[in-house]
Amino acid sequence: MQDQYSRKIEYLRISVTDRCNLRCIYCMPEHGIHRLPRETMLTFEELLRLVRIFSALGIRRIRLTGGEPLLRPELPKLIAQINTVRGIERVDLTTNGTLFASMAKELKSAGLQGITFSLDTLCADQFQHITRHDRLNAVLDGLETARSLGFAPIKINCVALSGINDGELVQIASLAKTAPFDVRFIELMPIGCAKAYHGVPTAQIYERLSSYYGSAAALPHSYGSGPAEYVSFPNFQGRIGFISPMTHGFCSQCNRIRLTAQGNLRLCLHHSAGLDLRTLLRSGKNDAALACMIQQTIWNKPSCHSFLQESPLPGAKSYMHTIGG
Ligand code: 5AD
Ligand code: SF4
Repeated sequence: MQDQYSRKIEYLRISVTDRCNLRCIYCMPEHGIHRLPRETMLTFEELLRLVRIFSALGIRRIRLTGGEPLLRPELPKLIAQINTVRGIERVDLTTNGTLFASMAKELKSAGLQGITFSLDTLCADQFQHITRHDRLNAVLDGLETARSLGFAPIKINCVALSGINDGELVQIASLAKTAPFDVRFIELMPIGCAKAYHGVPTAQIYERLSSYYGSAAALPHSYGSGPAEYVSFPNFQGRIGFISPMTHGFCSQCNRIRLTAQGNLRLCLHHSAGLDLRTLLRSGKNDAALACMIQQTIWNKPSCHSFLQESPLPGAKSYMHTIGG
């Protein structure tokens, strides 16, 4: 499946819930979000029907996100079912890691492959400050369990926040030195609550890491097949990645689309363009009609996000916990 800019779209991120058991300061307000009623979320049957349609259109990889996806009841069952859909080559998960250790075996049996953990700090007090919960040890347990059960790849996403965790970046990167984890530093995107904070530009992070670990070798762009640019530091088991939505445009290589828990197909992180698939599914459209509308919508995927625009494109409105990053 291609869009009008000849980008090949083969990666679908599905948010299975907008609920989360953490309240990261740059993602959610302290007292949580207005919860949409459960019946507005796509059911497993609806999700599977869509996955079959997307697969027939060329989607090959699925990533489950949230909110916190492990809060969705019976998630392993959904993963096992998605894995039976012809054409789907892999299912991965992005999680905050707090519930992972207790579910890991079941997730492995369901055929889940790669895990991306969100972890912005290795300091318990700072974790409490950033996520407003005291769960650092649960996440570290999750990481170790993922490693011992052989999930691959295991990635760690760290959002670098100026004046908050930016003194720890060298230490966080060391997770990739001592274990085969890929640690990725993400530039903060000014969405919702994040507007109150400042991110750290990739170039600054790289400078800090290389003054400590020595200079790194750049890996070919194909490594990781996403927006992250990876480098390899001497004597590291894992790679270090940089995701730089603010300082390096990566939109021209975008290969992904997103489905919100409420069934809205989103074409870009920061763009209102999309398609309300829940309404279409529930109004009795057949698979061929849905496929046709999906294809048309994807053709019109915007060329670029609008973070850098002085005023966002009309209707641009995104909340990370509804689209799962
Ligand atoms: N900017 C950059 N990254 C963000 N994430 C959540 N909100 C933002 C933001 N405003 C990250 C999370 C998670 C990933 C899916 O997105 O930390 O690792
Ligand atoms: Fe939850 Fe992730 Fe948002 Fe933190 S960033 S509140 S873990 S959804």
